[in-house]
Amino acid sequence: MKNALAWRYATQKYDPAKKISDGDLQEILEAINSAPTSYGLQPFKLIHVKSPELRAQLRAASFDQSPLTDASDVIVFTVNRNVEDQHIDSYMQRIVEVREVEREKLNRFQQNMIGVLSNLSSAELIAWNTKQAYIGLGFGLVMAAHLGIDSTPMEGFQKDRYDEILGLTDDHAVLVLTFGYRSDEDHTQHHKKVRKTLEQLVTVK
Ligand SMILES: Cc1cc2nc3c(=O)[nH]c(=O)nc-3n(C[C@H](O)[C@H](O)[C@H](O)COP(=O)(O)O)c2cc1C
Repeated sequence: MKNALAWRYATQKYDPAKKISDGDLQEILEAINSAPTSYGLQPFKLIHVKSPELRAQLRAASFDQSPLTDASDVIVFTVNRNVEDQHIDSYMQRIVEVREVEREKLNRFQQNMIGVLSNLSSAELIAWNTKQAYIGLGFGLVMAAHLGIDSTPMEGFQKDRYDEILGLTDDHAVLVLTFGYRSDEDHTQHHKKVRKTLEQLVTVK
């Protein structure tokens, strides 16, 4: 794992001829889906953008970043703009199915969650939801590296334009993750990784 994390980098130029397998993509999506989230609510969704036309439009709304059209796969993370009772309800239903518990036993948990989330403004809720999406992003990046697949996390794009292009109204695009295989011409793969030293990062008290 240590080697995989050292090997990965935010790929700037992909080889458009190289596609990742369906099995590898599935594993990455499952890794994102396995990320922990606050309350376990998973308040984000993924759009796998396959249409070349849409990908070209997204590239134009992303400062012309080439991974949008040249990577094998493009995943857009979206979050809810508002607390949806329906969303919380379907989460409760899922717990009932998976854990085979009685629905009534979850009422307190549900009320607690609604109590906290319904006090947030739409902007606060988007921020809270987006924090959860970043955890998923991290899991996807790590799984891709583990599989020897290149990736690029991106937030350098015009989010409102993404919403328009993808026809989102209740949901809001917040992050992009692209996957594929690096081009030999991507010079950034040779750059040394710049990170803090552990002494700079960690304080012991
Ligand atoms: C949330 C997030 C957003 C990022 N947005 C972009 C982006 O829009 N375009 C880009 O080329 N790199 C983007 N990056 C990549 C970072 O610049 C890169 O991860 C950082 O410089 C460290 O380099 P490394 O990932 O190659 O080790 C983003 C990274 C993260 C985590």
